Amino acid sequence: MNLLIKNIRELVTVAAHGQRFRLGPEMKELGIIRDAGVLCREGKIAWVGPMTSLTEPLPDDIPELDASDAVVLPGFVDSHTHMMFAGDRVEEFGLRARGATYQEIAEKGGGILNTVRHVRAASKKELKRSTAAHLSTVMKQGTTTVEIKTGYGLDMDSEIKMLEALHELREEEMATVVPTFLGAHAVPPEFRGDADGYVRLVCEKMIPYAGKKHLAVFCDVFCEKGYFTLPQSEAVLSAGRAWGMLPKIHAEELVSYGGAELAGRIGAVSADHLEHVTPEGIRALRDGQVVAGLLPGVSFFLNHGYAPARDLIDGGVPVAIASDFNPGSCMSSSMPLMMTIACTHMGMAPEEAITASTLHGAAALNLSATHGSIEVGKQADILIADVPDVRHLVYHFGTNHIRHTVKNGTLLEIP
Ligand code: NIG
Ligand code: FE
Repeated sequence: MNLLIKNIRELVTVAAHGQRFRLGPEMKELGIIRDAGVLCREGKIAWVGPMTSLTEPLPDDIPELDASDAVVLPGFVDSHTHMMFAGDRVEEFGLRARGATYQEIAEKGGGILNTVRHVRAASKKELKRSTAAHLSTVMKQGTTTVEIKTGYGLDMDSEIKMLEALHELREEEMATVVPTFLGAHAVPPEFRGDADGYVRLVCEKMIPYAGKKHLAVFCDVFCEKGYFTLPQSEAVLSAGRAWGMLPKIHAEELVSYGGAELAGRIGAVSADHLEHVTPEGIRALRDGQVVAGLLPGVSFFLNHGYAPARDLIDGGVPVAIASDFNPGSCMSSSMPLMMTIACTHMGMAPEEAITASTLHGAAALNLSATHGSIEVGKQADILIADVPDVRHLVYHFGTNHIRHTVKNGTLLEIP
């Protein structure tokens, strides 16, 4: 809970000075302090600055960590995952390697519905166990806050099972877990040909249940051709809002569909994917101050084109990067890998990728007042990395450079 990290060679604060995000050219400003220190008290950051300004005498019992050969930065905030799942889709991976597309596989009953069959058959305990294992992996990779969606149950009992499992993990796990209700992820087989009927079940039964029991912070929808239309998506997000869940949306992944404009109009907290966002969509996101949640790992894994990160950043939209970790479209939870792909394939600068994975991840979860940067009063979620400077975290890919993850001021050794 209490910890002094001292003599830090390079401290990357990503300081936001009370703002939710840093737009345009400011996204590259990382608030770096050299020969710095960070004091954590009772899980929060109590002091940050150059070592020379630490004048206050500290009690002897505060543990100290020397970081004179390390880079220190905020814990990664992975603002979009489907980390709670059962089974795998390795067969589909093989089919895609031989040329089948994600949509073709979905049309034949694979894809999301494949995972739904496994999740329906799994117990809450099994879902918790596998998700806890993923959480422990991501903490070692530097992710300290993770959003996790439901959406592989698609019936009342199975969606509740996922929500309850998430609720329990939130209490039990060290990582900050943010639950999102995604009942409208796909139309389940029982409602084939009757998407409106399924949307009624989501809006009239599932959302009120989750809302009454405070089981989800966000409500999300897969707004996409072949999944949920714009009016259906709006109905789901309005019902979610009426029950206290803030709107998020999967938008413009497979085709340009108008999900970004919808997100801007209703003031969604984030609109994610955006591989096919149009210039009008970008303006709507900017005007609505909607965080664009980019998912580089999906474009890489499905090999289907990248979101226009440069146009979004230069157009004044706050851009976040997330993993979308799930068994179908991105079987990786590594935030550093996502950052590398954002730089090599989406034209982002390493510094922008850092802001997108920390402060802007927090903004995408409405948590930028408490998470995403190293500033006094925020949660002490901090990484100590073995790299010469912070850009190397992005440049030197495929290796875990995280030496320690600090969560709420508690130091975790990375084996
Ligand atoms: O964000 N696009 C919709 N949902 C997930 C994929 C889930 C899956 O294929 O299991 C996504 O990419
Ligand atoms: Fe997703």
